[in-house]
Parts: sequence; structure tokens; C-alpha cells
Amino acid sequence: TTVEKQGFRHFMLKEIHEQPGVVRACLETYLNPDWHAQDRPAFSPINLGIPPELYDNLEHIQILACGTSWHASLVGKYLIEQLADIPTMVQYASEFRYAPSPITANTLTIGVTQSGETADTLAALEAEKQRRAGLEPKYAPQLLGITNRPESTLARMVDRIVNTQAGIEIGVAATKSFMAQLMGFYFLALDLAYRRQSLPIEKLALIVEGLRQLPGQIELVLEKQEPLIEELAHEFAETQDFIFIGRGINFPIALEGALKLKEISYIHAEGYPAGEMKHGPIALLDSKVPVVAIAVPGSVYEKVLSNAQEAKARDARLIGVTAMTDRQAESIFNDLLAVPAVDELLSPVLTVIPLQLLAYHIAARRGLDVDQPRNLAKSVTVE
Ligand code: G6P
Repeated sequence: TTVEKQGFRHFMLKEIHEQPGVVRACLETYLNPDWHAQDRPAFSPINLGIPPELYDNLEHIQILACGTSWHASLVGKYLIEQLADIPTMVQYASEFRYAPSPITANTLTIGVTQSGETADTLAALEAEKQRRAGLEPKYAPQLLGITNRPESTLARMVDRIVNTQAGIEIGVAATKSFMAQLMGFYFLALDLAYRRQSLPIEKLALIVEGLRQLPGQIELVLEKQEPLIEELAHEFAETQDFIFIGRGINFPIALEGALKLKEISYIHAEGYPAGEMKHGPIALLDSKVPVVAIAVPGSVYEKVLSNAQEAKARDARLIGVTAMTDRQAESIFNDLLAVPAVDELLSPVLTVIPLQLLAYHIAARRGLDVDQPRNLAKSVTVE
């Protein structure tokens, strides 16, 4: 099938705009429409088709991935630990290959790869399978894949996959596939939480309801923020460095915002946990280095604000990804990229959108080849 740009200037922009539909498709596929918390249903809100055996006795989860998929995995770790209470480790596949962590019992290994063909991820999973083969049953390999390509090598290698429903992605910089991976992790964490009863049913229901609101909220962000971001992008024509900060579940989004910018605009960018700025990166700051801070309501809101103020005191231009309802933010940030206020756990789905748009519009403004950035490949099938 030929995939067309449908009037968008680049595939990446089209794919950014496809995200509400991708989230809708994920919800339609994996959320049980008949599930309502009031009836305290005897079945999970999530229908991933994962047999209960895979979840039984689970003590550890280890996630292996590269690039943007690694960032989605970091969000996944946060969700699984906070919602399902299972210790979860995320490793770069290229590192795990040559220095795997000690073998733990009753462990689920998850390989996350959009393409299902990334050499490092496949090799890390294969190595894990090999070293566990023939050991006592509690050490037996249990492999799950999260991929956008159900026909990929990954899919053939693992016991089960979560098919992320993003549709073919052409832009080298991953956007909608990242979004779909996030959805995969919400479903996995909620399914685990339901089956292990690690979460009050009311809280679970709130998150499920929150998920249902996301497509409309992403649409709103695209509609309201894109013109502003396009405008804002003009001001960074000469910028050489960018810093992105976030904490908690939005720390991986800071990493992803920085990666998008690096990949397509060739601007040096760093994503940092906001609380770590004082241990080094703050030395980089001056009026030439803009700082993007993700400061949405939740457990770390005040903390991020004070980290942002530290940056402002060094003359950095401050761009805030904040809640639309947040009046306090207006007096702190030079520019606001506002998203609807949602449960902190759901916020990455919204906070990543303005960062994708910012990277896109800066690169497009610079006249770069957004869909085919230099030195990069859509999937890296060699080591
Ligand atoms: C390449 C792409 C990245 C991607 C990474 C992992 O480097 O340029 O956008 O995140 O591979 O790809 P995967 O298919 O494993 O998710």
C-alpha cells in the first residue's frame, strides 16, 4: 500500500496529526467497552489477550529497547511500578547484550521496538532467551513484544505481542508509534493492576475514564498549540543548544523532546531530570540556551517550577509545558505550551505533543529534510 502525505508538508507532520486516531484505535482494540467500575466487574478493563500464566507469580519485569522505544519503556516502568507494584528495570538493548543484569526468577522480559527489526533489541532478547533456557521453571524465559509490526522478526521470536496499532510510520523520527507504545504500557500496567489487585477499583476506573478522554484532548492541543508553536519556532533559527527538563513520569518526555529536536533539527539538546540540573548542566545555562520545562499538575509540579526558576535566574529563556488551567505558570515562563489538565499518570500522552511540534517546526523552518534526517535510518538492522 502506498502511504501518502495527504496535504501535509512532511510525513512526520501527518503522523503527529494522526495521533488522536491512533489512540482511538488502541482504545477500541484493547479497552473492554462493557467495563464499568460501578458493577465491580469480574473481568479486566483491558483485553490484551495475554494469558493469566504470563502474569502469575510475576516478581520482576525487565524491558529492553533502543531510541524512542526506550523512552516509552521508561514511562512504562513508571506506570508498571506505580500502578501494578512490580519492580521494573529498563535497559538499553545495546548495553544489556554485553552486560546483562543477574538472572531473576519469575521475570517477564519485554522487548519494545516499533519496527520489530532493531538488531540490538532482537539480539538482547535472544541472549536472554538462551541464558534462561534449561534452567529451573521459575527462571524460564517469558518474552513479550510491544511492536507496531505484527509480522516482524520480533513477533516471531517472543511468546506474545502487543500490536500497537499505529499504522505504518514513514518519518524517521518516531511520533505516532511512540504514542501507541505509551498506550500499550497503559494497558499492560492496568491489566496487571487489575489482576494483581494492586490498585483500588475506583482509581483504576478513573484512569480508564481518563484514557477515553485522551483522543479529544490531543486534538485540542494540536488545534490550539500548533499555530503558536509554528510562530515560536521562528525564534530559534540560530539557537545551538536546548535543555528539556521534567521529573517523574515526565522525565522520559523531556528525553524524548530533546531526542526529537536532535534528530531532525540537528540542534544540540539535552533532556534532564529537573532535580539533577544543579549537579552540572546548570553550568551550561545563559541567555542563549532555552529551557523547556514540563510542569504539569501532580506530585512534582512545585519542584519542577522551582527548578525552572533556577534556570530563569541564569537568564535562560523559559518555555513551559503547563496545564491550560495554570495561571501561576504565566508569571514564570516566557512562553507557554498549554495542555489540558489531566491525572499526572496520563500527562505524558499530552505533554509530548507540543515537543514533537516544536522539533518539527524548528526543523521545517530551517529547511531540513525532516522525514529523512542525515545519518539516521528508520530501523537499524545492523549492530
Ligand atoms: C532508529 C530510529 C529511531 C528509533 C530507534 C529504535 O534509531 O531512527 O527513531 O527510535 O531506531 O527503533 P525501533 O524500531 O526498535 O523502535
